Amino acid sequence: MSVTLNTSISWKNAAPDDATMLDSLQPNIIKAHVREFLTLLFLQFDDQAGSKSFLKTLSNSMMKSAKQHLDEIEAFKSTPPVAGTPYVGVGLTKKGYDKLGITQTPGDSLFGSGMQMSELNDPDASTWDPYFGDDIHAVVLIGDMLNETKVAAHDQVVNLINSSYGVKIVGSQDGLGLHNNNGQGIEHFGYVDGRSQPLFLTEDIEGEENGTDGTANWNPDFPLGQVIVADPAAPDPTVHFGSYFVYRKLEQNVRLFKEEEEKLADRLFGAENEIAGAMVVGRFEDGTPVTMQFEDGVESPVPNNFNYFSDKNGAKCPFSGHIRKTNPRGSGGFEDQDGERKHLMARRGQTYGVRTDNPNDGRIDNKPDKNVGLLFMAFNSDIGNQFEFTQKNWANNPGFPRVPAGFPSPGVDPVIGQMPSDSQRPDMEGTTEWGNPAALMTTPAVQRAVTMKGGEYFFMPSLAFLRAL
Ligand code: HEM
Repeated sequence: MSVTLNTSISWKNAAPDDATMLDSLQPNIIKAHVREFLTLLFLQFDDQAGSKSFLKTLSNSMMKSAKQHLDEIEAFKSTPPVAGTPYVGVGLTKKGYDKLGITQTPGDSLFGSGMQMSELNDPDASTWDPYFGDDIHAVVLIGDMLNETKVAAHDQVVNLINSSYGVKIVGSQDGLGLHNNNGQGIEHFGYVDGRSQPLFLTEDIEGEENGTDGTANWNPDFPLGQVIVADPAAPDPTVHFGSYFVYRKLEQNVRLFKEEEEKLADRLFGAENEIAGAMVVGRFEDGTPVTMQFEDGVESPVPNNFNYFSDKNGAKCPFSGHIRKTNPRGSGGFEDQDGERKHLMARRGQTYGVRTDNPNDGRIDNKPDKNVGLLFMAFNSDIGNQFEFTQKNWANNPGFPRVPAGFPSPGVDPVIGQMPSDSQRPDMEGTTEWGNPAALMTTPAVQRAVTMKGGEYFFMPSLAFLRAL
């Protein structure tokens, strides 16, 4: 027996090795943990023994396993509901492993070199949040549904850090959930977020919708090997697993984005039209995929059972739409569907920054132009083939996806696409009439309203590794 990597698994009926893996895997990897209130603490280790002792104590006293998290979700669903415990997660950088004197480090070469060395057209690191200029050795995530319980757990972690020898906090970042009037989680541009995810547990997959005709147009079922890898420094790497954790702070200039949405609507339709924003994102604000219909109104559940096979010309959802660029669902034209699916990652992002306006009020003048954004976080088993492939080969690539001969080039992803400089941002495709391939046209790209403010690659090791330190 060995840990199942080539399919999803049932956690309730897990085979013995899978059960051992779940007992030692950190939460939030194979299933999102509630983190409405979140703090990330970025740490530096100055003393090997003190840092090891800190990690060991933290893991023994405050960290739960993926299995405990799944049990807590069940208890919360029971009557009366039993509240879960806060999420405490730990990730280490390659420099962190080196500081701890551990030589059997996770093998991903991009993890080894770190995000600053990557070729993603990111802004110069001198413009990132200042603490990224220090060596970062570890990150601790503390999250929960309620602020009070998050703050209590945060204070406990900080006390432990302060009483540990040779561990210091070099930076911290708060995350805060944002919601629309229906209580759904949204990102700062006002769009329902976090809907489409690869799912790794059969219990989650069973809850997914089929089409109204009962057909499965999108299969959310992904193999565990797409999100977990053996933890090489754990006592038993055959059953102790971890995951690569990508962190990027992405500031959103909401006012600029809304102005650009309006200008795009003017260019295409000569009037304000919500469909322009849907063409930029690929979904309307309420989550309705623009490839399915030309107006919003599909609210609950937000559909995810769709693909682009009935939209081969990009006349409904532009080829450049953010969700089409980042998950072409088999229609990218360079690889088969299986190959494309391997690039997807488990996104666990969280919004940050406080809003005083209503994100969906249709106004522009009251929208923030800084200090709010997305803490993009994602779990990968292969950073190069998942996060970096998505950002570099898809979002930043004006020639992706492949379009029919004679059609306008897609341009970069209007939400996250980055060129070496903004002046090189190529034109994008647009349409003056939804569903009509003859109405496709080339139009100036929307200006970039997302600015990367720093990030790093971490490995979230098994609890067995941390507890054996
Ligand atoms: C501030 C930055 C970003 C914003 C505002 C944003 C917004 C959104 C929204 C509104 C959705 C639709 C909701 C859903 O299907 O879950 C979405 C989906 C998605 N985003 Fe982003 N996103 C951002 C950054 C990123 C980054 C950095 C990546 C990867 C490099 C990414 C990859 C994806 C993927 C893979 C999907 C799911 C597409 C699908 O399966 O249909 N996003 N994003």
